Amino acid sequence: MSEDLWPPRALDAPEAAAGRAPAPGSVTVIIPTFNEAANVGELLSRLRTSLPAAAPCEVLFVDDSTDDTPAVIEKAAADCPFPVAVLHRQVAEGGLGGAVVEGVKRAGSEWIVVMDADLQHPPHLVPELVGESTRTGADLVVASRYIAGGSRAGLAGSYRVAVSRGATWLAKGLFPRALRGISDPMSGFFAMRRSAVSADALKPLGYKILLELAVRCRPAKTAEVPFVFQDRFAGESKSGAREGIRFLAHLAALRSASPLARMIGFGLIGLSGFAPNLLALWLLTHAGVQYLAAEVLANQAGVLWNFLLIETLLFRDRRRHRHWADRIGRFALLANADLLLRIPLIALFVARLGLGVLPATALALVTTFVLRFAATEALVYLPRGPRAATSRRS
Ligand code: GDD
Ligand code: MN
Repeated sequence: MSEDLWPPRALDAPEAAAGRAPAPGSVTVIIPTFNEAANVGELLSRLRTSLPAAAPCEVLFVDDSTDDTPAVIEKAAADCPFPVAVLHRQVAEGGLGGAVVEGVKRAGSEWIVVMDADLQHPPHLVPELVGESTRTGADLVVASRYIAGGSRAGLAGSYRVAVSRGATWLAKGLFPRALRGISDPMSGFFAMRRSAVSADALKPLGYKILLELAVRCRPAKTAEVPFVFQDRFAGESKSGAREGIRFLAHLAALRSASPLARMIGFGLIGLSGFAPNLLALWLLTHAGVQYLAAEVLANQAGVLWNFLLIETLLFRDRRRHRHWADRIGRFALLANADLLLRIPLIALFVARLGLGVLPATALALVTTFVLRFAATEALVYLPRGPRAATSRRS
């Protein structure tokens, strides 16, 4: 990935920053931008009046724009008493979340604050977020719309309100422990102690970077500050239906970080595969295909369905080391071997263990399921060394 860092004086390289203790109370405000030329001037001017002159603050824009946002920032930065840097990424890897992680890796200060560029997050709250952590000893302070004094005034329309509410409810239901005490896990405005972030453990996907940080880094103590979500100052929101799909995939990836959760997911996906299997069987037999041939073909429809879901929901970050054709080949082989293994296994259970046909079948199903899960992990999605060890449980 090639990138420009402007101006070079503003920030240390991560290696240099890692070796030194950060200045006490120092803050890096990380602002992801995608075509926000009409907002960044006003944003910097409000930050100028908000950031305490004495405190060591710096502002780092991580930019994926195709417009002249970097140039506008450069111009406005000349009037700022604090250092302002733009990290322009040639490849927008990971979108908004990836941009924030990129910024976190660069930050050598004691605190990071993450906020949007469109003024939906009031700049005057930046010192308050950091101040709250000093008061409470929290590692993470979230600006929340859902506690007394906060509101989602700027969330346009009842549709977006409902989606945001539903997403919050879903995330909190899936991660009750990691999100305890965080009423607004969808918030993109928060302060976090840099030392509480293990940047290498992060695999952000889309917009919900706070969720990623809270679940994967597990800050020991969290606090909240109310805020009023404002209207966008200029321009349009960059999130859409596609972001919704990415959010669901993100939840699945976070939730399936532990082997047990992954196995349950694998089982549920396997069960859901009955639907395409039966549908294909119905279509094929109605088209006049002989029923045994139809069974074999229909089973492949179920296998394909399972493969697609498992790829996108369970092993999203473990796909790269094998070509997709190799993966689907191995996956189909294991799925069909499962069927072949089941019959002799049932015979064995009946003959050797003296089980009835039904319990023997049930036991064979469970046995081949566990074997198939283990084999799929090991032979199709073999974790690549240390990366796998960084995942955590909720
Ligand atoms: N670098 C980078 N790359 N920045 C991006 C990208 C990207 O691909 N996509 C969006 N951004 C930036 C925008 O320029 C803006 O500064 C910020 O991320 C938020 O994007 P919006 O398009 O304004 O998002 P939103 O208003 O729909 O969502 C906001 O509200 C949510 C809560 O409802 C964000 O604050 C979310 O983080 C928040 O969860
Ligand atoms: Mn916005």
